[in-house]
Amino acid sequence: MSGTAPNDSFHIEGGARLIGEVTVTGAKNSALKLMAASLLAVGKTTILNVPDIADVEIMSELLTRLGCTVEFERTTHAVTIDVPEVPGSRADYDLVRKMRASINVLGPLVTRLGHAEVALPGGDAIGSRGLDFHIQGLRDLGAEAHSEHGYVIAIAPNGLRGADITLDFPSVGATENLMTAAVLAEGITTIDNAAREPDVVDLGEFLVAMGAKIEGLGTPLITIEGVKKLNPTTHATLCDRIVAGTWAFAAAITQGDLTIHGARAEHMEIPLEKLVAAGAVVTTTADGIRVRMDQRPQAVDVATLPYPGFPTDLQPLIILLNAIAKGTSMVTENVFEGRFMFVNELVRLGAQIKVDGHHAAITGVEKLSGAPVMATDIRAGAGLVLAGLVSDGETIVEAGYHIDRGYPGFAHTLADLGAKVWRE
Ligand code: UD1
Repeated sequence: MSGTAPNDSFHIEGGARLIGEVTVTGAKNSALKLMAASLLAVGKTTILNVPDIADVEIMSELLTRLGCTVEFERTTHAVTIDVPEVPGSRADYDLVRKMRASINVLGPLVTRLGHAEVALPGGDAIGSRGLDFHIQGLRDLGAEAHSEHGYVIAIAPNGLRGADITLDFPSVGATENLMTAAVLAEGITTIDNAAREPDVVDLGEFLVAMGAKIEGLGTPLITIEGVKKLNPTTHATLCDRIVAGTWAFAAAITQGDLTIHGARAEHMEIPLEKLVAAGAVVTTTADGIRVRMDQRPQAVDVATLPYPGFPTDLQPLIILLNAIAKGTSMVTENVFEGRFMFVNELVRLGAQIKVDGHHAAITGVEKLSGAPVMATDIRAGAGLVLAGLVSDGETIVEAGYHIDRGYPGFAHTLADLGAKVWRE
């Protein structure tokens, strides 16, 4: 979200080992996309296991402005969206700029209405995030699409028609937008070099439950046979592998012991391998994983890559782990070039890191030293709060609203696990 709320900082007193149990709820990056895709069917769609985070409120507001009735039942984590026969076709800048995932209404709106205008999104300060693959893909599907005065405008008065699309990079957002556009297009669409993230698979399965015909989910080639109409459905969002990964790293970084209910090890293979290489003991439990660390971590090299590679969203966490590890390491960022903004903040806490292009060379130090720092995006914010736990004295993380966008009740959960963390 943009704009700093008053008293929006996290205060952390260093020194705690995190010990106990956490439960991971639904994935932000899946729930938001399912909510946007509900626009494809007239009537009431219900999405279960939705996290109670600020971004869900923004998406609810966006859908409400498009004419939907949205109810979020917080106790059961269920969102019900009642979609009208003819929703609005314009998503305004004041909402879209607060959240990148707003762009996901583009595909559903243009395929259903033949016309959509969506403001160019803002989102996190993690680097330039183009929309060229989205626009080119919609053109391949027969739309007239361009950006003008800060909006993406897509027009297809006679509907979309199936096409063979190849993405230059397996973009998550472009795969999702084009998949949700192609489900109502006439004929067959293929998306080659498609993203394979579990979030994309979840969205695809949701569309299939609505009546879409999709094959190849989770592979680089997705095939979609357009249907005339989709029906509302009920679908549970999958658990958040990035939040689960954050807790797994939190255990290792603080030399703690966390049981993470809801974590799915099969969605986190490479991050968990890195934790084991760093010296953590990782075991699977009946409904999740347990991560225990009894020693100072060992430095590990890593390069971020599209799924199943090491996720860019966990890059700040592995940089933090390396910053306090024994030895030196290299972290290479291949997805978002701006993501090293976090490093400057970590250096304020005494980390020894040198950035050269998309590489960060890290020399581990035994302890960091508390200072005021600024959260620049959701994951960097979570990383800085955890950095405060391994810093001497008090750390203040400003712009805490970033963390609220992705981590429900982060400060409370940390306090339950033994940390001295509070909001001011
Ligand atoms: C999504 C996630 C984000 C995650 C990222 C990669 C949401 C809301 N966000 O972001 O948390 O870090 O996937 O796993 O789900 N690109 C272009 N042109 C395009 C589209 C993308 O050049 O048209 C570039 C981007 O600038 C970036 C790379 O492709 O360098 C990957 O972006 P993409 O996979 O699209 O990420 P998002 O969907 O924005």
